[in-house]
Amino acid sequence: MVEERYRAKWSCPSNIALVKYWGKRPGQLPINPSFSFSLQKSRTETSVSIQKSSKPEISFLFEGKESPFGERVRKYLELLKLDYPWMQNYSFLIESENTFPHSAGIASSASSFGALALCLTDLSMKVQEVTVDEKVFSETASRMARAGSGSACRSIYSGFALWGKSGQVEGTTDRNAIPFREKIHPQFQGLMDAVLLVDSGKKQVSSSSGHELMNQHPFKENRVAQANQNLKTILESMKSGDVKTFFEIVENEALTLHALMMSSSPSVVLLKAESLIIIEKIRTFRQQTDTPVGFTIDAGPNIHLLYFKENRTQVRDFIQTELTGLLENEQWMDDRIGEGPEKLE
Ligand code: PMV
Repeated sequence: MVEERYRAKWSCPSNIALVKYWGKRPGQLPINPSFSFSLQKSRTETSVSIQKSSKPEISFLFEGKESPFGERVRKYLELLKLDYPWMQNYSFLIESENTFPHSAGIASSASSFGALALCLTDLSMKVQEVTVDEKVFSETASRMARAGSGSACRSIYSGFALWGKSGQVEGTTDRNAIPFREKIHPQFQGLMDAVLLVDSGKKQVSSSSGHELMNQHPFKENRVAQANQNLKTILESMKSGDVKTFFEIVENEALTLHALMMSSSPSVVLLKAESLIIIEKIRTFRQQTDTPVGFTIDAGPNIHLLYFKENRTQVRDFIQTELTGLLENEQWMDDRIGEGPEKLE
């Protein structure tokens, strides 16, 4: 007998892009392929309880309270009902919390929609009494996550993930992300990310209006070509263990993202003076000590300092002595490449 109440609970990580998704086509499809890795500590835990109802309702609680994010979640579920008609007959109670501080300046939409999509995929299988293998489960969850926030589709996997059709890797598609499992130099399995908090204030531009700026951008065509070329080069560098090229591409992508925003109409400047000072200090540290480090940046002022686990001591010392004074309340998060989502119930 089909039951009328179900519950699912998942933990899903945030991810950071090395080749950036910037600009989209209708249906939340990307204009270029992107490449990222999942973090380990920056996560969202979400539970979804559903109950069959003649008057379906959607309730969303963030850390036990109503939250403005609830409105976005409601719209998201209404959209999914078009593809998953079973959802129309159920009430939803969604409870969510982040494992990182509110003020950490980490984009939580990827981990939030990732965790929610994993719960909904799980429930969808239960309600419809279907079983699928892990690959199909993850691809379904990734597609569902994409509908909420494009970059969320990459959070469904451990380690590195690719989203967007590319001639470089077989199986890539615009519809969902896939894990990147080709043989790479072992050094990259020890990738670390120190998330340096420059400013936790709300972003001046939402990522959806940011993507829109690409529609009419004078450099759009070149950007798409550049992202494809950067993807090719970064994957080659990871296979051969060419760390120098790896960081060159990662930094080029981060600065291109911000250059595209600055040269958009209207123009958006998200970097702060401290962001630029940190960038300069990272480059000087790399040059003077030969330590393989680099940075990437999301659509905000915070800097992700990337390095490898064997250099942890030097990098921690560098952060403490040179960088903490430039950070908001001296805050930074010591994260690393992660093990992916976890089913909690
Ligand atoms: O997923 P969105 O719509 O929040 O877009 C995220 C865009 C960037 O974080 C700037 C880049 C990326 O690929 O994650």
